[in-house]
Amino acid sequence: MEEQKTQKKVMLTGDRPTGRLHIGHYVGSLRRRVELQEQGDFDEMYVMIADTQALTDNAGNPQKVRDNVIEVALDYLSAGLDPKKTTIFVQSQVPQLFELTCYYLDLVTLSRLERNPTVKSELQMRNFEDSIPAGFLCYPVSQAADITAFDTTIVPAGEDQSPMIEQCNEIVHKFNSLYGDTLTPCKILLPENEAARRLPGTDGKAKMSKSLGNCIYLSDSAEEVNKKVMSMFTDQTHLKVEDPGHTEGNPVFVYLSAFVKDEHFAKYLPQYKNFDELKAHYERGGLGDVTVKKFLAQVLNDTLDPIRARRKEYENNIAGVYQILEEGSAKARAKASETVKRVERALGVNYFENRKFIEKQQKAFNKKHRDDEARVAYLAKQKKN
Ligand code: TRP
Repeated sequence: MEEQKTQKKVMLTGDRPTGRLHIGHYVGSLRRRVELQEQGDFDEMYVMIADTQALTDNAGNPQKVRDNVIEVALDYLSAGLDPKKTTIFVQSQVPQLFELTCYYLDLVTLSRLERNPTVKSELQMRNFEDSIPAGFLCYPVSQAADITAFDTTIVPAGEDQSPMIEQCNEIVHKFNSLYGDTLTPCKILLPENEAARRLPGTDGKAKMSKSLGNCIYLSDSAEEVNKKVMSMFTDQTHLKVEDPGHTEGNPVFVYLSAFVKDEHFAKYLPQYKNFDELKAHYERGGLGDVTVKKFLAQVLNDTLDPIRARRKEYENNIAGVYQILEEGSAKARAKASETVKRVERALGVNYFENRKFIEKQQKAFNKKHRDDEARVAYLAKQKKN
């Protein structure tokens, strides 16, 4: 029997709870999720705190994962994710994801797992040498479970997640071709512009990363942001104010390009109409770094202020935040268990749900018994003759 698949538009994405989220996460994905939520184009939206995945390389430090579940939840809610419109849930609380993972593991080869470029570079960074946790190597398979459990059609994520989506779709096609059309393939939705794709660190290094200590966090205070911005790297060749400066690859300008709006100029720097005019002046010479940095700090704080205000409210109601996660996880379980049922039917491991099938099995055994008896009777008769 062909199962009917949903043709809904479903968005799902997630983050590992290994630290607070920073402004790189914000421009790279969080802001987009909130926009998508407000546009209302999706029938269903899911955002997952991937604690199970975080444990694949933090088995020795579950406390870190546990503590960051609430941090990430606070970051989500304060950035504007609305639990009425977006189901926010915790991966470990949806056991159906483990069931799907187990079935999918049979459809993937070890060598395919070892070829995943994102996993490869993570393995290199983590220096596991001969002690790679099997769960870590297999996390793209569990990620395929996360995605397919919800019939996800769109996964907003960074470029580094492309290999995961590719591997997910391979599993989908393998499953569907072996067991019939059951799982829904998905597409990645990449960040819209260059600055959003990869925000450099405050030290100018290619990536904002907790381990490099070059992050501005969504939960940083205005004072912390001011301090971090004032000590940011800029253009090393721009020594005197009158020197012509470079804006390309200059982290202060990269941040501005990701955050600044024309209204910020009207509010804080009215001598310029827009970003292009500011850039042109810097490149020409005569515009000091301190002026630009002060402006950037104002722009960032302007953006972060409403986020901070919401965070404070949620921080005063931590039990309420856990309740949001609990309710979201219950909703996620309900949806994922429908997919598990479909998968079990496709695999034929739905032993107890089909009465007719059980009766058919009984008839087959009855026939076997009749045949056996007939054979015995026949042999007895032969002997007698
Ligand atoms: N791998 C993602 C990260 O490292 C987290 C994640 C887990 C995820 N499952 C997902 C992202 C499903 C998108 C879809 O941040």
